[in-house]
Amino acid sequence: MIVTQALRLAERQLADAGVDTPRVDAELLLAHVLGVSRTGVYANDHQEVPGRFQVLLGRRSKREPLAYVLGEWGFRRLMLKTDARALVPRPETEIVVERCLELLRGEREPRVLDLGAGTGAIALALADEHPGAQVTAVDSSPEAVALARENAERLQLPVEIRQGGFEAAAEGWDLVVSNPPYVAPGEWDTLQPEIREWEPRDALVGVGLQEQIARVADTRRLVLEVGDGQARGVAAALTSLGYTDVAITSDLTGIERVVEGHGRRGS
Ligand SMILES: C[S@@+](CC[C@H](N)C(=O)[O-])C[C@H]1O[C@@H](n2cnc3c(N)ncnc32)[C@H](O)[C@@H]1O
Repeated sequence: MIVTQALRLAERQLADAGVDTPRVDAELLLAHVLGVSRTGVYANDHQEVPGRFQVLLGRRSKREPLAYVLGEWGFRRLMLKTDARALVPRPETEIVVERCLELLRGEREPRVLDLGAGTGAIALALADEHPGAQVTAVDSSPEAVALARENAERLQLPVEIRQGGFEAAAEGWDLVVSNPPYVAPGEWDTLQPEIREWEPRDALVGVGLQEQIARVADTRRLVLEVGDGQARGVAAALTSLGYTDVAITSDLTGIERVVEGHGRRGS
């Protein structure tokens, strides 16, 4: 089968499976197997499609996240290895990195902790974009730790990655950043199959974790990702715990997404 036929059939198959963006996904799967960019698919529209395409299309039709099917996903300047061991890095988390970079600006060798590393997205992006930062990433999941280490190795970025929990935040840092699980248990059934059936539940479901981190953290700066509607409550918690200059930043869709504050370690 040639590219134009494969594109048409794949779009229909993905739409029938309930995929939100069937055309884009079909293009990206084809681009992946052909080894070209998404627009390159159209420049090669009479090329024969490798048999592997049907395998990947079958996986995506079962609503496996595109990032897992492709095995890699872009986050800021990095291409990260992605699979079911950790959450797929989200575009809104790029804003979290942006706030960290702003707060670290001018600091030569800040000690930074990423709590709940997942693929290592935040920690690796900070090491990449703030050379000199001494970045540590911690996750309670051994699977996520293994994947984050593979990403650090692949990208040759100097991040220390270890298995652990929130107690790491108490070790004394210049900046603690976290995108902790924040989906309420009652919301679980409303999530898309890509999330509910494929991503690690422990990476998603959690209540009040931002406040728990803020309580134990010994840090000059704290940056936290929050769910839709949670920012004001988390900001109030930070203020009552003694954090100063507490601020909220919205993501590109206008949702209040990041809460930051200056911690008790002073500045
Ligand atoms: C929402 S995911 C974020 C992953 C990654 N930082 C990102 O933004 O793509 C949350 C991560 O926190 C980890 N986690 C959950 N509870 C934890 C705990 N008590 N201590 C350390 N990590 C935890 C999960 O295993 C998961 O990898």
